[in-house]
Amino acid sequence: MIDFQSVLNAINDDASNVKERGEIADYIPQLAKIDVKHFGIHLIDSQQKNFSAGDSHELFSIQSISKVLTLSLALNLIGEDVWKRVDVEPSGDPFNHLSLLELENGIPRNPLINPGAIVIADILVSQLEHPKDDFLTFVRNIANDDSITYDESVAISEKETGFRNFAAANLLKSYDNLNNDVEVVLDFYFHQCSLSMSCEQLTHVFYMFMNHGKCRRNKAYLTLSQVKRINAIMLTCGFYDEAGEFAFEVGLPGKSGVGGGIVALLPNKFCVATWSPGLNPKGNSKIGMLALEKLTTETELSIF
Ligand code: DON
Repeated sequence: MIDFQSVLNAINDDASNVKERGEIADYIPQLAKIDVKHFGIHLIDSQQKNFSAGDSHELFSIQSISKVLTLSLALNLIGEDVWKRVDVEPSGDPFNHLSLLELENGIPRNPLINPGAIVIADILVSQLEHPKDDFLTFVRNIANDDSITYDESVAISEKETGFRNFAAANLLKSYDNLNNDVEVVLDFYFHQCSLSMSCEQLTHVFYMFMNHGKCRRNKAYLTLSQVKRINAIMLTCGFYDEAGEFAFEVGLPGKSGVGGGIVALLPNKFCVATWSPGLNPKGNSKIGMLALEKLTTETELSIF
């Protein structure tokens, strides 16, 4: 039996001693206010035992981690038709780059880079009667936690400075790969990114990706085939131009966000989330990556 709590305690000790903690994402002004010193980690195992250390109950902005959840809901709603509008290849580019989109005629490389997530947002805006409310309900139901909510101040802050996302949405529109108004789709997109969660809540939402599509109450939200596809996309695309490094160092499917969160999972074993707001040059949490590398090295648990 692995003593997860001891491993998490050791990771937390190491994390508090790191001096160079990375850079806060200041292109979303509201995120720039967060103290770089935070660190939290939470793990839930397949028996639903919970382990935590550090600031694991503090709320933070999950940002791009939300892209996995909108993709899940889009697959629920229109199934494999999703793949007519977005591809499943790693981009090897930063999350906000647009050059490939033009070269590849408006079909984003994958649903986890910004243009791909904007296409998924467009699908949800078309399919849902009240997109923001319905998506929030979907997430709350999976987590069995009605306290999860959007952080309006983060959504507004990103809307005011999200010039590249406006460019991406307009480019998609010019290629006929955006059916709704740019403003409406981006309002939804900025809200999904503003979802506020703790490490503990994140593991409760992502538990289903390690548990064959079933949430903690054993209700199925995804088919086995959908879980396979989403976990494969997290592994190959979840860390943008650092996906290879994350697979190499950590060896788990996962997803990062510029709020400094990372969630990762080992099917049938555990789901883990870390939060440390300082980012490395690729936009992924610097200490979060070190922490997860230590977790899989110490426990000798990874998909490989
Ligand atoms: O669209 C953006 O730029 C942000 N709302 C999300 C980017 C993000 O989290 C990238 N992940 N590491």
